[in-house]
Parts: sequence; structure tokens; C-alpha cells
Amino acid sequence: MSEPLTVAMPKGRIFEEAVELLREAGFPLPPEFDDSRKLIVDANEADLRFILAKPMDVPTYVEHGVADLGVAGKDTMIEEERDVYEVLDLNISECYLAVAGLPGYEKSDINPKVASKYPNLATQYFKEQGEQVEIIKLNGSIELAPLVGLADRIVDIVSTGRTLRENGLVELETIVPITSRLIVNPVSYRMKDTRIDDLVERLAKVVEEDDE
Ligand code: PRP
Repeated sequence: MSEPLTVAMPKGRIFEEAVELLREAGFPLPPEFDDSRKLIVDANEADLRFILAKPMDVPTYVEHGVADLGVAGKDTMIEEERDVYEVLDLNISECYLAVAGLPGYEKSDINPKVASKYPNLATQYFKEQGEQVEIIKLNGSIELAPLVGLADRIVDIVSTGRTLRENGLVELETIVPITSRLIVNPVSYRMKDTRIDDLVERLAKVVEEDDE
């Protein structure tokens, strides 16, 4: 028997929706998938192996070929610029990237600071806007930065808007809509094209049906 296709999955909020999509596409995934601390899970019946990674690391595993495929947010793809193919918009985990700050925020030329876990994306965005800012890289709870005076603004994901609201922050600019994507290692795509095409087609069908 051939080796299973390896799929890198993002732990956290995208995970459940991605698992549901795979099950809808007819891939039998073991129950241990739903409540386990295992980082490698074999779904023998589906001939798939899953590795569970931090969302931002998924493109890295796929680029290096230790995973043939992966599920990654568009935010991660823009930030990481990895050498992988983006083959399908899974249309899950819809959200958007925005600039936010304290209400009544006014631009100032004196050393404006922006906190984000997307330093490359934020740098690029402000460059395009013709604004010079200092980017402060954080790894989470970005909304804290303007509240304690670490930065004037943040660049972060907005999903329900609840985190901004509950912390008294407001959205200042919308940057780009985000969904999760199916990504593929270019060499895997050449070597295992039939199996990867089959998986992509099955998922594409479910995405299309869910859209209707
Ligand atoms: C994300 C994002 C926002 C929040 C937005 O953080 O960075 O903080 O979710 O969601 P909302 O609009 O529905 O409130 P996440 O929970 O992934 O954790 P993090 O703060 O550690 O990045």
C-alpha cells in the first residue's frame, strides 16, 4: 500500500470547521481527532495522516514537504509568503484583517506604533498607505497593546468583533477579507497528483454545495 497523504492542520479555531469539511467530503476521521492532545493522527480508513500545528506554522510544514497538504488562513499565507500552491478556497473561518485603535484616534507623525502578529503584512500595508510606522510584533492578545500604551493601533483579525468591543477599541480601516485555504507542496503535487486532485475535487464539491 502507498504512504498516506499527510495533511497539516491548524490547531485552534479553524480546526473544527476543517474537520467537518473533510467528514462532509466523505473522509472517515477517527473520533480521537476531536478530543486528543496527539500531534500526529492517522486516519487509516481515509488513507490520510494529519499533523497538528500552530496555524502560522502550517505553510512551513507544507513548504518543506513534511506535509503534502495543509489548511491555512489567508492571513497566514500573506504573512508567511511560502513556496506552496494555494489550490482551493475552503470558505471557512471567514473573518477579515483590520486596523483598530482607541475611539477618537487621530494620526500623528510622531513615532506612530502599530502592534500585530503579522509584522510583514502590517509593514506592507502601511507602506502602501504611504505612512511610516514602527511595527511591534506580538504573539497574541494584540488588543492589549493600545490599552496599555504599547502601540497606538493594531493590525489584527476581526471575526465577530467581540474582542474589540469588549476592550473598548474601534475598527479604523478594513484591510482584506480572510478565509482558510487548502495549500499543497509543489513537489507532492507533481508526484501524487491523482490522489491530491481527488481530495481537492471532493472538498471543492462540498464547498460548492455549502455555498448554495
Ligand atoms: C483572534 C484575533 C482577535 C480575535 C478576534 O485571536 O487575534 O483577538 O480572535 O475575534 P472576534 O472578532 O470574534 O472577537 P485568537 O482568539 O485567535 O487569539 P490570540 O489573541 O491569541 O491571537
